[in-house]
Amino acid sequence: MPASSRDMTPSARAGRLPASPIRRLAPLADAARERGIHVHHLNIGQPDLAPPDSVLRALEDASSESLVYAPARGSSDAVSAWQIYYSHHSVELELDDILVTNGASEALMLALLTTCDPGDDILLPEPFYAPYKGLIAITGLNPVAVPSGPDLTPPSADTVREIVTPNTSAMLICTPSNPAGTVYGQNDLSDLGAVAVENGFFLLSDETYREIVFDGPAAPSALAIPGLDDHVVVIDSVSKRFNVCGLRIGSLVSRNRAIMNAALEIAELRLAVPMIDQRAVVSALTAPRPYVDTVVDEYRKRRDAVLEGLRTIPGVTAHPPAGAFYVVADLPVADAESFAAWMLSEFALDDETVMLTPMSDFYATPGRGVNQVRIACVFDADTLARAIEIVGQGLSVYRGES
Ligand SMILES: Cc1ncc(COP(=O)(O)O)c(C=O)c1O
Repeated sequence: MPASSRDMTPSARAGRLPASPIRRLAPLADAARERGIHVHHLNIGQPDLAPPDSVLRALEDASSESLVYAPARGSSDAVSAWQIYYSHHSVELELDDILVTNGASEALMLALLTTCDPGDDILLPEPFYAPYKGLIAITGLNPVAVPSGPDLTPPSADTVREIVTPNTSAMLICTPSNPAGTVYGQNDLSDLGAVAVENGFFLLSDETYREIVFDGPAAPSALAIPGLDDHVVVIDSVSKRFNVCGLRIGSLVSRNRAIMNAALEIAELRLAVPMIDQRAVVSALTAPRPYVDTVVDEYRKRRDAVLEGLRTIPGVTAHPPAGAFYVVADLPVADAESFAAWMLSEFALDDETVMLTPMSDFYATPGRGVNQVRIACVFDADTLARAIEIVGQGLSVYRGES
């Protein structure tokens, strides 16, 4: 047998994925369950609400003709459905501006691959959706943290002007944001768009939670801001607005035709997005908005239950979100990861405990977010109130110990 010239180990690229506290906690939750403890999973953005009936009906009606490859851009009915959906948000698009993707996750990857080269700087308002860090690492980009405004509001244009470098290819924003629920208004988007035009970078806007806004209409899309057609690339998804995370349907949307052509060429390498999943969301996408409105009312109740519960816990500061369905809380502990691990491995109240997401993964700046957790409002208000009570009891015992 010839001597091997390399160890059979993963590539350096795979090794660039940052270590994740979230992954480290999962085995502790499994072990708690094995001990008979009920774990309230406030750590994951998997909503428990029923999807629209039209989705379930379409899945029941799936037939053998659903088993073919769809066109790489997306089936024509799904592409048209996204076009109609956007027109309900006053964004007029051509069909070629839209690519159907395997969730926002694939759209994010395509956005990074088509707008940035390895070694380029990408601006990231903190805190950000934790997987951005991994996506940026494996595409070889250099994350440049942008501090948010006061109380987790959007960063100002001047802050971005101070931070942008000649090597900056893109800024990746999320509105409403996961985890902080920050909603970028029209003015925020046009101010940041002006900086993108001045400095020649792309504005990548993840609008997965567009309609989940608590006070006022859906968050404005970056696609609706005039003068930014070449700069804006939107990442979208039906996962959260229709409670269909498992269907894996999203979209990449831009009026920059060169970017869309490049994205389509890359998408051709993965051939297609599942036909059944695409069919299933057509009616929900083209319907006017009442379904999403009921979802928003429910999330408002949940957010309020979590905020109310957190207010009663000494030393905890919660950041009320304007949208999405998470709450960021500062805990009176030195290290939220150690506390989250302790909750799973050592604490239970009447055989119940809570899994929280420690937030250091949501920052590129070392040391930031170490005392913060993200709480996902993915259960009804009573269950969330109980879970927050357990966190409060846990904190009082933990602080007694430390
Ligand atoms: C901000 C944000 N972007 C993208 C995604 C990925 O969504 P999808 O299920 O469409 O891949 C999520 C999922 O939690 C998210 O919160």
